[in-house]
Formats: sequence, structure tokens, C-alpha cells
Amino acid sequence: MRMRNKYRKPTTFCCNAGSICSLSAVVWGLVGCVIMLHLYSLIHHQDGVGGEIQMRLNRHPLTRELEEVEEESFQIPPPRGKWSPHAPRNKPRPRPRPATPLIEEFLDKSSQIRHLFFPDQRTAIDPMKEAGNDSLYFYPGRMWFDTNGKPIQAHGGGILYVERLGMYYWYGENKDGPTYHAHKKGAARVDIIGVSCYSSKDLWTWKNEGIVLMGEETNETHDLYKSNVLERPKVVYNDKTGKYVMWMHIDDANYTKASVGIAISDYPTGPFDYLYSKRPHGFDSRDMTIFKDDNGVAYLIYSSEDNSELHIGTLTEDYLDVSQVMSRILVGQHREAPALFKHQGTYYMITSGCSGWAPNVALVHAADSIMGPWETMGNPCIGGNKILRNTTFFAQSTFVVPLPGLPGSFIFMADRWNVAELRDSRYLWLPLMVWGAADQPLEYNYGFPLWSRVSIYWHRRWKLPDGWSGQ
Ligand SMILES: *[C@@H]1O[C@H](CO)[C@@H](O)[C@H](O)[C@H]1NC(C)=O
Ligand SMILES: *[C@@H]1O[C@H](CO)[C@@H](O)[C@H](O)[C@H]1NC(C)=O
Ligand SMILES: *[C@@H]1O[C@H](CO)[C@@H](O)[C@H](O)[C@H]1NC(C)=O
Ligand SMILES: *[C@@H]1O[C@H](CO)[C@@H](O)[C@H](O)[C@H]1NC(C)=O
Repeated sequence: MRMRNKYRKPTTFCCNAGSICSLSAVVWGLVGCVIMLHLYSLIHHQDGVGGEIQMRLNRHPLTRELEEVEEESFQIPPPRGKWSPHAPRNKPRPRPRPATPLIEEFLDKSSQIRHLFFPDQRTAIDPMKEAGNDSLYFYPGRMWFDTNGKPIQAHGGGILYVERLGMYYWYGENKDGPTYHAHKKGAARVDIIGVSCYSSKDLWTWKNEGIVLMGEETNETHDLYKSNVLERPKVVYNDKTGKYVMWMHIDDANYTKASVGIAISDYPTGPFDYLYSKRPHGFDSRDMTIFKDDNGVAYLIYSSEDNSELHIGTLTEDYLDVSQVMSRILVGQHREAPALFKHQGTYYMITSGCSGWAPNVALVHAADSIMGPWETMGNPCIGGNKILRNTTFFAQSTFVVPLPGLPGSFIFMADRWNVAELRDSRYLWLPLMVWGAADQPLEYNYGFPLWSRVSIYWHRRWKLPDGWSGQ
């Protein structure tokens, strides 16, 4: 059995009994090191605002505006006494009682402040109508229309950038059906309709490319039969085979199958042929994502052992299966909804806690080697208010999009699940930046940060930098 990272002791300074190495020399050496580092950081703090501004100027000038911290205040309604018995959940596990009344309000379909979480279609982002000042502006949480004026259906999604075509493809769950409970204790669900695909050159104007992987209407033994579960589809391109490969979470209505499914296509816009499902490395697999590294090696990352840990493993060269190599990470930490990205040779991952459809606090983790060890750096959310930061802005991570030409700048993609009406779940896209020193001590590094801080900045309204062309 592996121990939690937290309890692992650094071994670098261990001396064998009988060796000439003196323990006290090592201790004093270390103390010296720590003092030097503290002096260094003190000097930097004394630079104060000047230092801050200097650092910002060194950053890409186009992204400075996105790092402005925006505060948000919620009018918290008076306590309501009743606690909804239909506490929604989508995973078979006990759900902790929400920590704040606002989460209760969020989950309550008759809440009087529902419009704060799910503003109605009068405020929708509509690329076909938005000619004036709102053109290219993201409004996290608002309805978002495609170029046909229909709400985008791409939940739990991910984005593939095809450089050759200068085109972004957004894949996600089409949840445009009725929300219901299959049985009394069952999770709120929507039947499988399929995986939608949308295309865009600017990441704001999305054209519906249709359902690229269809659910199965009649064949009850098929993985994609409508009463099963298909979640978090992700697509990667295989340079060797020239195929687009889709991985997704496949489950039955009770989340007992806990498998991954694989589909393949010659074109980014499908149609995808469904190949098969399996339990990777023989383990249960629920929330998952795929990450393709610079060198063409792709990885599957999945929540396993009843969501208590994550597993990460390489895919085979054709991306159609996992290889033998697998590493257990964040063991015992109960994380899901992984979204992985890389910056300057370091791997980062955003995850959520496990509380079904209810939002919870996001964490960011980092690693020098993708197979681990991974260390937890804390909550990346900045701005808004305490409740927004503690609920990932009432949303759950799904993907992080790199922005070509803006190193260190990414888009954080999350889902704000609408449990009463899942098809009306909203998208939260926010700027994510990697820069500066981490502000939260890591678990066993003597309190000084090794990695850059990862920040997700809350904005009610924001856009990508003016000079950024999309590629
Ligand atoms: C755009 O914004 C400017 C300045 O805020 C305002 O004067 C103008 O009326 C706005 N135009 C539209 C079409 O909303
Ligand atoms: C139904 O799906 C199963 C599993 O994919 C497949 O083996 C079977 O041939 C399908 N049946 C029909 C009638 O298509
Ligand atoms: C799911 O669980 C419920 C209640 O335990 C049961 O009635 C139902 O048959 C199960 N469905 C599947 C597909 O296993
Ligand atoms: C943040 O949320 C967690 C549950 O995700 C809860 O346990 C904790 O008390 C909350 N903290 C604050 C400050 O609201």
C-alpha cells in the first residue's frame, strides 16, 4: 500500500548509521538554506508594488488586463429552514451536506435567486446578434448560442486545435433531452443523445457540426444505449495514423460499469466509429481526460478505486488502448474532473472534489514528470468572493485550453451543472495564467515554492486580448 504524499518524508538528506555524514551539519546546512531563501523573498517583498508592476510588464502585454482581480458580491437570501430532500448527485457515494446556504440555493430549483446562477436567455451570448460592444466577450454562466441561435450542447467537453485548419473543435455531451431520475435513489440524468462537435476560429463564434458520435436508440446491449451514461468525451489527433481518437467515460445508469470507451474518425467533424469499452488496467474508471504531450505521447487520466485516487497511464502508439504503464496519483485525495495542461516543462492539473452535481473547491496540482509524484498547490480561483472561490464559481473543471502565441495563458473550461434541467447547464470559461511564485506552501518542501502559481481569474465579462488572432 502506498502512503499519501502528505506523509512521505523527503529522503535526500538521510544518512546511514556509521557514515561520516553528521546529522547536525545537515540540519545547519538546511537552516542556512532556509534563511537565505527567506532573505531573498523578503528583499523581493520590499520591492512592493514596483516589483509587482515590473513582473507584470515582463508578462505578455496582451494578457495583463485578464489578471485584474474582479470582486463580486452576492445578496444572500434569508435562511429558508427547509433542506431539499432531492439532493442531486451523480455518483454513488455519500454526499457531504453543502457547506453554505448558497449551495443549497444553487441546487434548489425553486430558489428565488436562481437567475444569479442561471441568467435567462435575454442575456444570452449570441454571436449572430452581438455586433456592438459585446462582440467576442465571454460572460461566464450566461446562455451561449451557436451560429444557428441555439444553445451550445457540449457539456463536460474538451477542445482540439487543428493547426493545419486553423480551427478549434469543441466536443462535449449533448444533453438536450429531459432530466429525470431512473429510480428513487438514482442520480438526475439525461439519456445518451451523443457527442456534439462545434467548430470555431476565434473560440467565441461556434458553428454546430452536428452529433459526431450518436447514442444508440434500440440495441440495449450497446454501450451507447440511451439509458447508459456517456460523459466527458475528449478527442486527440494521432500524427502516426492520421486518425482522430475520442475517449470518454462509459457507464450504466448506476455507475457500476465504470469504464472508458474509444471511438475513431478520419475527420475532426466525424462521424466517429465506436470501437469498444474497457476498464483500463483492470480498474474502475469514472471521470477522465486525455492529454497529448509535445512528443506525441498521449495519456489517460481517470478517477479510480471509487474515486479515491487518480490513475495516469500512457496510451498505445495508435491511441486506441492503454499500455501497461500506469501510475497511481493523489492517492486517498478523492479528486475528479481532471483537466491537465503543461507549461515550460511542468505538468499542471486542475481537479474538483467529489460531491456529485454540487460544486466544491478546485485544487491545482503540479508535477515535473507526468507519471508523478504530483503535489497539491491549493485553490487556483482568484477574485469574485469567498463563496465563488470555494465553489469553483459554482462550476466543475472539464478542460484547459492552451492559447497559441500566449505562453502561460490558457482558458479554464468548467461546467455549471443545472441539476433540475441538465440540458441548461452553463459553461464557465475564464482566463488561467501560470506565472509568479506559488503562494501556498507545498506539502513537504520546507515552505518554499518550486513551481509557478496557477491562477484562474474571475470575470463577469472578459475577452481574449485584442491582438490575439486565434492561432
Ligand atoms: C459601446 O460602449 C460605449 C462606451 O461605453 C458607449 O458609448 C456606446 O454607446 C456603446 N455602444 C453600443 C452599441 O452599445
Ligand atoms: C448490439 O450491440 C452489441 C454490442 O455492441 C453488438 O455485439 C450487437 O451485434 C448489436 N446488435 C445489433 C442487432 O446490432
Ligand atoms: C440500479 O439500481 C437500482 C436500485 O438499486 C435498481 O433497481 C436498478 O435495476 C439498477 N439498474 C442497473 C442498470 O443496474
Ligand atoms: C469550502 O467548501 C468546503 C466544501 O467543499 C467546505 O468544507 C468549507 O467549509 C468551505 N469553506 C468556506 C470558507 O466556505
